[in-house]
Amino acid sequence: MAPMLTIIRPDDWHVHLRDGEMLKAVAPLTARQFARAIVMPNLKPPVTTSAHAKTYRDEILAVLPQGSTFTPLMTIYLTDATDAGDLVQGHKDGIITAAKLYPANATTNSEAGVTDIKKIYPVLERMQKAGIPLLVHGEETNPEIDVFDREAVFIDKILKPLRRDLPELKVVLEHITTLEAAAYVANEGKKGRLAATITAHHLHINRNAMFSGGIRPHFYCLPVAKREKHREALVKAAISGAPMFFLGTDTAPHTQAAKESACGCAGIFTAANALELYAQAFDEAGHIERLEGFASRFGPAFYGLPVNKELIKLEKASGGENKIKAILTGGGQQIIPFVPPSPVLWRIAES
Ligand code: DOR
Ligand code: ZN
Repeated sequence: MAPMLTIIRPDDWHVHLRDGEMLKAVAPLTARQFARAIVMPNLKPPVTTSAHAKTYRDEILAVLPQGSTFTPLMTIYLTDATDAGDLVQGHKDGIITAAKLYPANATTNSEAGVTDIKKIYPVLERMQKAGIPLLVHGEETNPEIDVFDREAVFIDKILKPLRRDLPELKVVLEHITTLEAAAYVANEGKKGRLAATITAHHLHINRNAMFSGGIRPHFYCLPVAKREKHREALVKAAISGAPMFFLGTDTAPHTQAAKESACGCAGIFTAANALELYAQAFDEAGHIERLEGFASRFGPAFYGLPVNKELIKLEKASGGENKIKAILTGGGQQIIPFVPPSPVLWRIAES
C-alpha cells in the first residue's frame, strides 16, 4: 500500500489571493488544502484601512466553493501615513489579524510601502501594546546592495535595531531565504515574539534553478532563491521541529504573460500543490513526521489561535509524479504552477 500520512488540516500563514478574476481562480485552490490563510494586502490599490480589509474579506468569501469553511485572516498594508487608531480598532473588531511591512519598492506593489521604519514607530508602538503581529518583507531596498544580500543586510540594518527598540512586538520575518535569517530567528525566536515563515519553493530550489538551460521566469520571486547552502539551512530549519518556523507559501500568482516577459514579475505560484511540495521536501529530508508541527501547530501557537479540528490525508505514489496543470482564469489568462526540478510523489488523498 502507498505510504499515507494524516495530519491536522494546515493553515497558510502567507498567501497572495489578488482580486477579480485572479482571485476567483486561485482562492479555491488554497481553500482546498488550508483551513485559514493570512492574506497579503498588496493589491492595487493596497489594503491600507480596516474598511478596505473588510470589503476584501467579503470578496474572498464570495468566491469560495459552496460549503467551504475556509477563513481568510486579513492584513493591513503599512504606509508612512497608517492610521494606528483604525488598525487597532480593526484588530479589536476581529477584521485585522496583522499588519504587513513592505519597505517601499522592495517588491510587487510595494511603491506605497514604508520609506523609513522610524516614520511608523508610533504605529508599531501601538501594535506592540495591542499584541498585533508585524509581518515583514525583510529586504534592504538600496539598489546598490546586491540582490542576493538584501535579506541579510535588512536583518542587520533594520530588524535588529527594531527589535531592540520594541522588544515585545510580535514579528514574523516572512519567506526567509538565507542561513543568516534561519540562524537569527532560531536564536531570537525562543521567547515567542519572533518567528519566520518558509515557502515550499525555497525548500526545493536554489538560485541555479533560475538559470538551468536558459532563464526560468517561473522560478523567480522575491526574496530571490539563494545558493544551495541557504536552501539546506531552510530545510534544516523547517524540519527541526522548532516552533518559530512555520508554513507560509507566499503563493504569488501572475499571468503567464506577466511572468514570461522582458521584465517578468516576481512571484511563484504554489496554491495548486503547496502541501504536496512541503510533504515531498520533508520526506526527502527524512522527517515527514515533523510536517504536522510545521504546517498545522506552530503557526496557530504563534498567532494565539486554536489548531484546526479537521484532518487531511496525504499519500505517496509508488511511481509517477503528481502532475499539476496550468490554471485558467475566467479572463482567459493562464497561471503556471511551480513544478520543482525533481518529482513530487506526494498528493492529497481525495476521501
Ligand atoms: O515574489 C514575490 N511576489 N514576492 C513578494 O514579496 C510579492 C509577491 C507578489 O505579490 O507577487
Ligand atoms: Zn508575499
